[in-house]
Amino acid sequence: MQNPMILDHPLIQHKLTLLRDKNTGSKEFRELVGEISMLMCYEATRDLPLQEVEIETPMAFTKAKVISGRKLAFVPILRAGLGMAEGVLQLVPAAKVGHIGIYRDPDSLQPVEYYCKLPSDIAKREVIVVDPMLATGGSAVDAVSLLKKHGVTNLKFMCIIAAPEGMKALTEAHPDVQVYCAALDEKLNDHCYIMPGLGDAGDRIFGTK
Ligand code: PRP
Ligand code: URA
Repeated sequence: MQNPMILDHPLIQHKLTLLRDKNTGSKEFRELVGEISMLMCYEATRDLPLQEVEIETPMAFTKAKVISGRKLAFVPILRAGLGMAEGVLQLVPAAKVGHIGIYRDPDSLQPVEYYCKLPSDIAKREVIVVDPMLATGGSAVDAVSLLKKHGVTNLKFMCIIAAPEGMKALTEAHPDVQVYCAALDEKLNDHCYIMPGLGDAGDRIFGTK
């Protein structure tokens, strides 16, 4: 599989354009983050293993497929990842959810971890980390390292917009992690914001600017 995988389905691109628009308010922004995440999750779960079970339809007994094997867990990076978690959980409602709190220090731009609560069986699960923005990559690299310390071996990372710098940092630090994003943007600006990006994802989701 290609790594990173750019999920540029027309529906995703259309919604992403609305998401980037500075005139899109928090309510619509949140809805769009959820919808894009759901569409991306459809692709990111394409390789889930299936097993056959026997069922009875109103017409006959038949064999049919259900998802088998390892179970999924989603891990949003707080805060902005919460917006994506809502979307992916609509698709896989039985998944467990862990939370990792990391913010980027505005001066040093280094990731600061402030919270971690994971399902007790996280090491046995396939884990999809979600965060809409991959900028320098510091937060994503740290979140994945933390999950590996908790024994997770099967990891994917899903973001909506990535900067080339962050994508390089993540794929070099964790080459075993399959990365999905909807757009690989041009560059970071002097404050390490993604250009053209969408601004501050957490502020736009929660209306905190
Ligand atoms: C944003 C975003 C990522 C991080 C990306 O979070 O949601 O977690 O920045 O930047 P990086 O790749 O350079 O680490 P932020 O630090 O703004 O925290 P918030 O979600 O709490 O607003
Ligand atoms: N975090 C954001 O929310 N946006 C960026 O462009 C970079 C980091």
